[in-house]
Amino acid sequence: MNVDNLFSLTLLSIKVDNWEEKKKNILDRSNDFEWVESINTNYDPYGGDLMDVQNIFANEIKQIEETVEKELKVSGSWVEKAEKGMYHRLHNHGQVGLSAICYMEFDNTEHKPVVFVSPWKDVFNGNIVLAESSEIKEGTILVFPSFLEHFTDPNQSDKVRTSLSFNLRSF
Ligand SMILES: [Fe+2]
Repeated sequence: MNVDNLFSLTLLSIKVDNWEEKKKNILDRSNDFEWVESINTNYDPYGGDLMDVQNIFANEIKQIEETVEKELKVSGSWVEKAEKGMYHRLHNHGQVGLSAICYMEFDNTEHKPVVFVSPWKDVFNGNIVLAESSEIKEGTILVFPSFLEHFTDPNQSDKVRTSLSFNLRSF
């Protein structure tokens, strides 16, 4: 028997160097949070690279570019702060390009991470298939196709769960 895996979906994870310095830099820039739908965020659809990710994560973006063999530009970046009970409902980041999540303040013992929804259903029962990264920790950037649907469950901890997100486009 020959087995062809016709489609696959890749998740990259990159450990950020000089994490504490970059974390401070990004958190210092993140302000003007507004409650939008179910979470506090400074997301602005016309704001561009608000968090200056293109510069701060230049080394990490270079690694991504080398891996996907494309030149990439940060088209938007923002921070989300999930206080107790806050969550981010099911969404995607558009139909083209890559997107990234980096947890800035994340306690593995109290916080639950982003959950990804497979574009493909379970072949035998048609159920929705969910997946989490095994690489969730502060200071690790996860990169996934922008079209991939994802969500977060409500934060059940008294500690704030803070994440940075950004979109990478190849123009
Ligand atoms: Fe997202």
